[in-house]
Order: sequence, then C-alpha cells, then structure tokens
Amino acid sequence: MKLKLPNEIIIVFLASILMVSSVFSKNMTQENYIDYLIKQLYSTNRDTRLETLKTLQKMTPQAEEAILDMFWLIDQSDVGITFNAIRAINANLPSDKQLEEIILWYLIREPDVDEFSRNSARTAAIFKKIWSGQLGLISIEQEKVESMLLSMIIDENLTNTERIRTVQLVNNLVMGTDPYKISDEFLTAIFYTLNDSEQASEIKSNLTELLITIVLYQEEGQIIEDIYQQLSKIHGKSESAEVNKAVERVLTIINSTNKVVIVNGNQWVDTDDNPIHAHSGGVIKVDDTYYWFGEYRKADWNFNAVRMYKSKDLKNWEFANNVLTEASHPDLYCRLIERPKIIYNEQTRKYVMWMHWENGEHYGEARTAVAYCDTVDGDYEYLGSFRPLGHMSRDCTLFKDDDGTAYFISAAKENYDLNIYRLTDDYLAIDKLVHIIAGQHREAPAVFKANGYYFLVTSVCSGWNPSQGAYAYTTDLESDHWSPLHNLDSNTTYESQGTFILPLEGTCTTSYLFMADRHGGAYGQHPNTSKYVWFNLELSGASTLTINWYPKLEIDTTTGVIRKAVLPESEDQNIMHSQGTFLSATDNGQYLYLSDKPSIESDWKITYTDENWVYIKHTASGQYLQDYQGVISLVNKENAFVSEYNIQWQLSETGNNLVNIINRATGNYLHSWPYGGDSAGKQPKDAQTAHLSWIL
Ligand code: GAL
Repeated sequence: MKLKLPNEIIIVFLASILMVSSVFSKNMTQENYIDYLIKQLYSTNRDTRLETLKTLQKMTPQAEEAILDMFWLIDQSDVGITFNAIRAINANLPSDKQLEEIILWYLIREPDVDEFSRNSARTAAIFKKIWSGQLGLISIEQEKVESMLLSMIIDENLTNTERIRTVQLVNNLVMGTDPYKISDEFLTAIFYTLNDSEQASEIKSNLTELLITIVLYQEEGQIIEDIYQQLSKIHGKSESAEVNKAVERVLTIINSTNKVVIVNGNQWVDTDDNPIHAHSGGVIKVDDTYYWFGEYRKADWNFNAVRMYKSKDLKNWEFANNVLTEASHPDLYCRLIERPKIIYNEQTRKYVMWMHWENGEHYGEARTAVAYCDTVDGDYEYLGSFRPLGHMSRDCTLFKDDDGTAYFISAAKENYDLNIYRLTDDYLAIDKLVHIIAGQHREAPAVFKANGYYFLVTSVCSGWNPSQGAYAYTTDLESDHWSPLHNLDSNTTYESQGTFILPLEGTCTTSYLFMADRHGGAYGQHPNTSKYVWFNLELSGASTLTINWYPKLEIDTTTGVIRKAVLPESEDQNIMHSQGTFLSATDNGQYLYLSDKPSIESDWKITYTDENWVYIKHTASGQYLQDYQGVISLVNKENAFVSEYNIQWQLSETGNNLVNIINRATGNYLHSWPYGGDSAGKQPKDAQTAHLSWIL
C-alpha cells in the first residue's frame, strides 16, 4: 500500500509541526520540504527514516512525543500512512461526521478488494492501539467509533457492499490483539438486523460471521451466553440458508466439548508422563490422528532419534516410536539431525522425511537427508545425505501443495538465502530450484497456504536465540513475485523460534497452529530441555498475519478453533503476612512492599489453573507476581520470564489458616523480608517460617 489516504491530511499534520519551527532549509519552499520529509519518512531504508525523525525532533521539542509515536509506526511502515491520517484527523478534523467520511471514502470504498482487506486490518489495529493508550497523543473515543460503525451498518443509503465492508472492519476490531469488547447495544443491533426480514441476506450472513469472531475472541462469559440465547431463537428460522448455516456454526462452537487447553512455555509430557521430545519438528495428520515428530538428542547434543507421538486432540500425546535412530544407518551414527519434516506421497503411498544433516562435529557440511516409510510411525528407511543441487542446506521444511506438488525449502549460501526446490514426483529427490529468497539471512522456515496465498514464516538467523519472526507471501510459490518480509508481533517471537504451521480444518473454521520452540540452547541448557510455545497464527484480510502470546491456548480439533483460553478470575482479596502486614505494590506494579493497612495497592486476584496452581494478579497494575531466579517482581503476563511456570504458585496450607506460597518454576517460597529491607535475593525454604507464612 502506498499513500492511499490523502496526502493533504499528512501535510496538515507535518505543517503544524513545521509552523513552530524556524529551522528551515533555505533552498526549499515549505511545501517542497514537507514533500521531501514525507518521502524520507517512508524510505525503505530504516536509517533514513530514523535520520528524518531526528531532524523533525530537533525542529520542535513539543513535537517530541508525537514523533516518538510516529517512530513506532514508521518502523512498521505499512500502517504508517493510515495512522498519520488518523492522527491528523484527531488534530484537525475532530467531528465524527468527518471521521465517518474518511473511513467511507478511503477505506470502505477502496476499489481493490485485497487492498481493502489489508487496510481494514491495519485500521483496526490502529484503533486498538489508540484505545489501549499506546499511541499517546491520539484520542478517538471507542464509543464514538462504535456508534459510527453501527450507524453505517444499518444505513440504507449505503450500498450492501459498503455495509458489509463496515461489518468486516468491526470483525477486524473484534479479532486479534487486544480484542475490542463489543457493547450490548452493538449486539442488540446485530440481532435486530438478523431478525429483520427487510435486510439483505448477505448482510445477515456477514453479521453472523462477525458473531463467530465475537464468540472466538471475547472473554466475557455473559456475551457468549447472550449470543447463545439469541441465536437459539433464530436457529433454523431464517429464510436464508446461508444465515441458518452460519447460525449453526456459531452454536456448534459454543457447544463444542472437544476443547483442550495447553500451557505455553513448558516442556509437555506424554501420556506416560515422560517429557515430550519432538523439538524443531512438525505434525502430520493421518485420518483422525495427529502425529508429532521432532528432534531427540544424546547428551553430547548429537542425534539420538526422530521421535514420534500421536494424539487425537493435540494435547494428549502417546509415544509412538523412534521412527529414525542413530542405529537406522551408519550415516546417522554420531551425526546431527535437525528439523525433520514429513509429508505423504499419495502415488507411492510412502511417508517421506527430509531433514538437516551434519557430521556431528560442526555445521559446515550443510546437507539435507531423506528417509521414507510405508506407515507414518514405522521405522523409516534412510536414503542418504547430500547437498541439493550442490547448494548448502541447513534449516529446512517441506510443503505439499493441494495438487500434490511438493517443495523443499532450505537455508543456503551460509544461511543468507532460502532456496525453494520442487521435489520429484516421488518426493525422494530434488527436481529443480524454483525460487531463491536471496540475501535475507533467514531460517526456521515454515510454509502454509490460505485463500490462495502461500505464506513463508521464518526467523532471523540467530542460532538458538529467539528472534524477530517475519513472513512473506505470494500467490505462486515458483514465481519471483513475493511480498517483502513483514514482521510478526514481538521481536523475539515471544522468546521462541518457529518450526511448523499446522492448518486445523474444523467444522466451523480453519485456524493455523504455529508451533515454535523455546530452545534450551538459548539459556545455556541442553536442547532436550527446550520448551514448546504454540500460537494461533491469525490471518486477517487476505494476507496479514499476527501472533499473540496466550499463556494458555485453547485448541478444538473438531471445530478448528484456536483461541486464548480464559480462566475465571476471583474477586479482589488481600494477601496478609502472618505478622499483620499486607503484600502490596505501587499502582504501576513497579515496587512490591508490605503495607500496614490494606489499600487499593494491596488488592490481588487469585486465579486457579486447571492443574490447581494459581496466578496472583495485582489488581491495580494488572500485573502478575513472578519469581525469576529468586527475584520476586510483578510482570505483564505477556512477559512472563522464560516459562509460564514463573508466574504460577502453589498455595500450600500449613495449619492455623496459614499458607506457604511456592513458585512453580523455582520452588522458592514467597517471603516477607526482602520488602522490609533492601534485599531481593533468593529466599531459601529454611528461612524463618514466620517470614514464609501468609493468610489469604
Ligand atoms: C538455529 C537453528 C536450529 C539449530 C541452531 C544451532 O538457528 O534454527 O535448528 O541449528 O541454530 O545453533
């Protein structure tokens, strides 16, 4: 997208910065200079953008905050234009009517459908940033926007397409990061429209789609309950088959009982309670069973086996087999095997595995290796290792297209390039190199296809360390027409590196499970200690991907729904120390202390996990009590350090209504003395009992 929204608006904004400035290039007119700055701000060169910002910053100190905000967006260049327009609207065009007109003219009436989808996703993201206070200066009230959008949806002067697109914008607001909470009025209006026989059925079915998104993303139990009640009344009664089907889908999602919850950032165990070793692996579905496979190493970090587990629900994994081991072939003995991937060949009826092969001493061989088997979890026959068409080959993945054509993608040229090779019909060899994503220095590739787009998600080449995930897309894998790389949320992929994307096609929707590893290697530990982190890779518009950190992910293989799992929260309560003081924290959560009297700063909410651990959330700051290496602090749940367990505690009764509060990750006891003195060190379990006893 380039300058879709009006230049004048941006100019007005920049002009207002420049007005107060006396620093001006002598050779340029004001207009030229603004044009010049606009161009510079959207330069593809990040340094140029930064320099321009600094120039602006020098011009007027008052603009500093605005510029910092702008910096944030410009760094994500795509959204910058829309954002600047909204900022300018805020500064210069405060009326709702004008806001509505801008949205109509520059978004809803966009002639290109794909462009509309992308812009709609971006606009929604910007509104949400504004509402969550992330864009400092800007304030556009949520209620105003909501009532504006609502009036557009029911405005009969607008065309059906315009009204539907408005529904789609609301849909973008409801999904993804910081889902916008739909109001009762909005819901009532939706049901009113669904019941109104005058309304076009295409509008109704879009509204029902919106209800699905609301059900998927809203946390409020009551909202879901209301939707359920209302839809049960409408169920099967609409004259439109599409609407009936959509209503049926919403009800199925609400009713489904096949949900499981996984706790992110842990090393999960199999059905025998042994740690699951399927690191840097993938999943293949055969009939109704998912097979998860991946790396399992020896103490010296070299190859031990490709392990495989099976499950019907993606949570309960039964060990199936070591499908390839160092004993399978001499070429695997004392070697290193990484990132195995498996696809099925319908013609030869064989499961084919490709992987990264090294000699067990260094990473310099940079080869791939191939194995195959008649059954998914049998013993794979090893064929050998080689460099594909002579190219170096390290991190890799496989992708099988709908027509059966398969591709091997691997990091070549010292990991600077990602090569995409088409495989031969039997998938056992390379047919040809079809495209090179050159010079990006990316690895950990994972590919999936949705709505005609192929997405390639990768990490930075940073060894075991987590890094910024990014994706590129194309409508033709073999062409040279690939989008540039777009960053995924979080510059560390929430402390992980991707490995595989599993499309989850259910009765109600298709979701994309993005599987990632929190490598032990990044924390100086053995790779077998690596933890698993799974995301719902959210697709909005035609081609915008986002990931969010959900400490617990709900997965439903029947409906295809993946979403944040919600835990019921308790009422506010105090945590009193046995000696009469109250555990407290400043309202921004920065300091913990013990206060003599309870106050708003000593309100906590205690939430039980399914496994009877608790989260201890500070009500005023919304942050969670954490122990990381013996240091007790408050953190945003999103930033829970290393493992979700660091913010989980056990309440262990010791008699006389006293409890010990013990951290799940460290085994440390919550104690009173650091808050009184200046120490925040590790608290041993054998410290004076009084220091460790609390009353809830
Ligand atoms: C990563 C790669 C892993 C492993 C690791 C070794 O970049 O994705 O599979 O090779 O480096 O440092």
